[in-house]
Amino acid sequence: MTNLTLNVNGQNHQVSVNSPEMPLLWVLRDLIGLTGTKYGCGIEVCGACTVLVNGRPEKSCDINASSAVGKKITTIEGLSADRSHPAQKAWIANQVPQCGYCQSGMLMATAGALNAGRHGAAIASEIKNICVCGTYQRIKQAVAGL
Ligand code: FES
Ligand code: FES
Repeated sequence: MTNLTLNVNGQNHQVSVNSPEMPLLWVLRDLIGLTGTKYGCGIEVCGACTVLVNGRPEKSCDINASSAVGKKITTIEGLSADRSHPAQKAWIANQVPQCGYCQSGMLMATAGALNAGRHGAAIASEIKNICVCGTYQRIKQAVAGL
C-alpha cells in the first residue's frame, strides 16, 4: 500500500492506495466517497470523469493518484456550496440534464473553460464530452450566456 495526501475541494485527504498508479477517479469515488464524478469509458474519451486540477479540466480516469499529489483537485461537489457557480446557474435556468450521468463532467469542463477565459460559443466548441441522452443543444443554450 502507498499512502498519499490529496487536496480535494480545499481539504486534505489521506488515502492508502494499492498502487500509486491507481486512477484518481477510483480514489475520488471509492476511497474519498465523492461519487459525483462518474465513470463512463475509462479510456479518456467520454469526459464523464472530468474534474479540475489546478483549475484546468482533466479526465480523472487518466490521471494517476500519485501525480495529483500537491495539486488542487476540484470535483462537482466542490464547485460551489450552493449551486451558485455561473455554470450551475445556467444549467438550472436551461434545465439541461436528462438522466444526468454525464452532467457533472459537462459542468466541470465548462468551469474549466471559464477559468481559461472562454465564453459563449467558444466554451461549447471546446467541450468534447459525450452525452448519451443528447443534451448538446441545451448545453449550447446554457453556455451561450456565459
Ligand atoms: S471515464 Fe474518463 S473519459 Fe470516460
Ligand atoms: S444527460 Fe444522460 S448522458 Fe447526458
